[in-house]
Amino acid sequence: MAAVIDGNKIAQNIRNEVRQSALEFKEKTGIVPGLAVVLVGEDPASQVYVGKKAKACAEVGFLSREYKLPAETSEAKLLSLINDLNKDHLIHGILVQLPLPEQISTEKIIAAIDPHKDVDGFHPYNVGGLVTGSPLFIPCTPRGIMELIARTGIDLKGKEAVVVGRSNIVGKPIALLLLAQHATVTICHSRTKDLPSVTRRADVLIAAIGKPQMIKANMVKEGAVVIDVGVNRLENGKLAGDVDFNEVAPKASYITPVPGGVGPMTIAMLMKNTLDAARNKVSKSKLRNNF
Ligand code: GUN
Repeated sequence: MAAVIDGNKIAQNIRNEVRQSALEFKEKTGIVPGLAVVLVGEDPASQVYVGKKAKACAEVGFLSREYKLPAETSEAKLLSLINDLNKDHLIHGILVQLPLPEQISTEKIIAAIDPHKDVDGFHPYNVGGLVTGSPLFIPCTPRGIMELIARTGIDLKGKEAVVVGRSNIVGKPIALLLLAQHATVTICHSRTKDLPSVTRRADVLIAAIGKPQMIKANMVKEGAVVIDVGVNRLENGKLAGDVDFNEVAPKASYITPVPGGVGPMTIAMLMKNTLDAARNKVSKSKLRNNF
């Protein structure tokens, strides 16, 4: 029977660490890290996420600002807000909640964010940095998964890692991070032939598909580490992951639950990225003063 990885507890530990570091940073520099969260429209799931981000900011002692714009907001209007936030000295991190309404190009908006404030790690500059191994920011969910794995004491060197899902937010970046930790990485997706035969090779299986309970016991190797990134709302209103927990848990060595696994780590890592953004700004201005 698998040990259940407690994401709530690990995320709480990280938020405590960030709160302590932010306090020390403020004592040294007088600077309070600031995060701007932009939400366009009224998607209920996005509203919940944005609320959680503001609550986490308050807990770790950051300045947080929320910008709630109507669903019919134009691309030009949103670009102008981002431009203002790029110049705002009190704001170190900018997060535009996705998905955006269809009249707005997500690509254009992400590219408009100053890469030094891109705490989501979605800007092409940071995506490129992730490929070559030196991003300013790592996307929050993948960074959270790596932290869960590290804090559980799992060594990735030489392991077979299989990622199911190829999104820009999770699948692609987590594959690169696992590779950087010397795992042998396979990325699967909806057109992969004989998916169970590939997922059964995994020492570490990352499920980031968005289909409730799709990963069954016959798709998992005995003793695998199973990380479930799915957050799916079932018809009965309950949350379910991409992994059939009851079937898979007896076979795995470690497994993350939904809720209470990867989810809380995403927000903890957003706090860490925002603190890093504020710190990076100070070290950059120090450099300018020295030369
Ligand atoms: N929508 C779903 N996940 C994310 C995320 O990590 N960041 C942003 N900005 N939007 C999201």
